[in-house]
Amino acid sequence: MIPHSKPTLDESDLFSVSEVIRSGRIAQGEAVETFEKKVAKFIGVDGAVSTNTGTSALHLALLALEIKEGDYVAIPSFVCTALLNAVKYVGAQPTLVDIDPETYNIDVSDLKKRIRKSTKAIILPHQFGLPADLDEITSLGIPVIEDCAQAIGAVYKGKKAGSIGRLSCFSFYATKVLSTGEGGMVVSDSKNLLKKIRDLRDYDNKKDYSIRYNYKMTDIQAAMGISQLKKLDSFLLKRVKIAKRYSSELQELCDVPAISYKDRKHIFFRFIIQIHGSVSKAIKFFSEKNVTCMRPVFKPIHKYLQINGFPNTDTVWNKTISIPIYPSLTDKEICKILDVLTQYLKRKV
Ligand SMILES: Cc1ncc(COP(=O)(O)O)c(C=O)c1O
Repeated sequence: MIPHSKPTLDESDLFSVSEVIRSGRIAQGEAVETFEKKVAKFIGVDGAVSTNTGTSALHLALLALEIKEGDYVAIPSFVCTALLNAVKYVGAQPTLVDIDPETYNIDVSDLKKRIRKSTKAIILPHQFGLPADLDEITSLGIPVIEDCAQAIGAVYKGKKAGSIGRLSCFSFYATKVLSTGEGGMVVSDSKNLLKKIRDLRDYDNKKDYSIRYNYKMTDIQAAMGISQLKKLDSFLLKRVKIAKRYSSELQELCDVPAISYKDRKHIFFRFIIQIHGSVSKAIKFFSEKNVTCMRPVFKPIHKYLQINGFPNTDTVWNKTISIPIYPSLTDKEICKILDVLTQYLKRKV
């Protein structure tokens, strides 16, 4: 069975982690600090604070911006519930926004219609690895938290995704582009915001009491992150190479994403195709042929909340499928995936 996603691991990750284990200092320490500095340098920002997950990175980013009960935070509907959870953790409410059906990112004109005075922040994911419309969205004057969980290494107008918002969050979950098993990070140019986040991440040894969290990353995870970061450029090249191959072989048969954009660089965390007919039946067909495909988003947020008014999200959800794309895919596996997809897309109905 070809899995839908898979971390890209090798002996160098094992070596890096085993060094930390040998040292006997396995909790948050020197490796975490080094990993933070290296990610900040890679993104091109002043500083970074690591966390145990991407969700806790979003939670701390919202707390640092002092988002609270009564406030609204704009998020797209076509994302996982991690964003909604982070908004709810601080007692705020979501302002749900529809997506652009071509890019799957937040639709700027819909965002403009839905924001109100109480919308105090925007969480802006760069969905599936393609940077969202940062210029238009940052110019609205509402603090933007870039959600780069799926977009480490993506580029917008010459700058790395994650270097433009007030704060930016990353996830290093097992199947993300860069993996530490679980893990996250907040980066920013604001020393003040990063200081608040650093304080909130850890509850122990504080002079005063206020609610704080245990959202720390361990040195074991950070060692893996440092090792993965060294290979990130090669991971990204491989993803784009596979995307180009999928695109050239599938474009006559179905809608595929654009490969190149004049002002931004897609890293192809996901490769999304649009099909006619039932998505669940297609996924079943692929699974019976040992290729795991998935819906790009399990269920849109407006469907969980049982509200209507997100037509693009509905349309996209009803016709998109995410196919396996990751650096460790072998040539044989890529051929198999293309063969199974071609069989399905050429079938007589
Ligand atoms: C866009 C986006 N934001 C946030 C998260 C949450 O990250 P984590 O699973 O590390 O908590 C994810 C996770 O899949 C995601 O895709």
